Amino acid sequence: MLVKAPANQATPTQQAGEYDLRQIDCDPNFWYPVAWSHKVRPGKAFAARYAGHPIALIRPENGPVYALEDRCAHRQVPLSKGLVEGDCIKCCYHGWAFDRAGKCVTVPYLNREDVGRPVRAYPCREKSGLIFIFPGDPALAESVPVPKIAQVGNPDYKTRHFSPRLKCHYTFMHENLMDMNHQFLHRRQMGSITARFLGQSKGENFLEARYSFARKGGNQPLAEALIFGKHHDDGREQPVEEVVSVRTTYPYQTLKIHDKDGDLIMDLWVAYVPLGADQLGTQTFGLLSVKKPKWGFLLDLAWPALGLFTHRIFEEDREIVELEQKAWRELGGDRNIEVFPIMKSLRALLAREGVPNKAAKPVHKS
Ligand code: FES
Ligand SMILES: [Fe+2]
Repeated sequence: MLVKAPANQATPTQQAGEYDLRQIDCDPNFWYPVAWSHKVRPGKAFAARYAGHPIALIRPENGPVYALEDRCAHRQVPLSKGLVEGDCIKCCYHGWAFDRAGKCVTVPYLNREDVGRPVRAYPCREKSGLIFIFPGDPALAESVPVPKIAQVGNPDYKTRHFSPRLKCHYTFMHENLMDMNHQFLHRRQMGSITARFLGQSKGENFLEARYSFARKGGNQPLAEALIFGKHHDDGREQPVEEVVSVRTTYPYQTLKIHDKDGDLIMDLWVAYVPLGADQLGTQTFGLLSVKKPKWGFLLDLAWPALGLFTHRIFEEDREIVELEQKAWRELGGDRNIEVFPIMKSLRALLAREGVPNKAAKPVHKS
């Protein structure tokens, strides 16, 4: 079981925040998405992963999806290769059958119920087209809410989803989105724009930064203009028209854009799910909701262009965060020199909420 150690079990030199940020694992005591709902078809099983733990997602023909450790108790082959029969999954090798609680209910060749061993069952929920598991202490699952996700199900919005894999620690992604001063990276897609920091809010488990953007030159991209309206570039700094709020509410991240009337015009929700045991690879699950304009078909027309535009931007982000991870490996640790106060707060939040991994080395400040 993955359980966050109580703070009082750490030695004085091992308080969160004194470790290399890239050696701090996600706190498992949250709901993490591990698959899109449509990938797990009725009567089938699906292989997913959380931080090196193989997870079998099983959807019976009738009844809700459930999650088991994806290793048969007999000879540890993946249960996700098995056969869904009724409410059970039957291992593909010798046919041991496990129910949704992970109990072995049949060892068919002995015709006995009492000899097989159970496998671990994970609390599992389905919401907004995603399947979530709770990888930590199951006793805590009921008390932790499954997150609200963008504007899924709201008919006033159109939502697209994406799920790229990244060769980097999840913390790089939180930093990338929160630090809007990196728009220089996107100059080929966005032209020359700069972020203006408007303010922040923070609490025990969240941090929010608010920005507006000013165009300094270059053409406004078509997809952006279709959604937000044409911004004229007359060489002057523009007044604040939209407010972009980036928020890490541990362990999730959101980006919301409100127009000058305060209406929510874009709502992005992202979860970063560690893949391997070292958590240096990340599966992203994101949903991006865009408010439909008065003439909804205009958004339908712009949809492919918007998809291409966001994809290109994301690919630039992907390349840069993977290069950051590469530098971390080559240098043997985190050498970042952070100067933006909101980013220092974000790093402290991620360190405080996460769990140092077994290999984590305390950082000695000189
Ligand atoms: S390995 Fe699963 S039943 Fe034998
Ligand atoms: Fe970016």
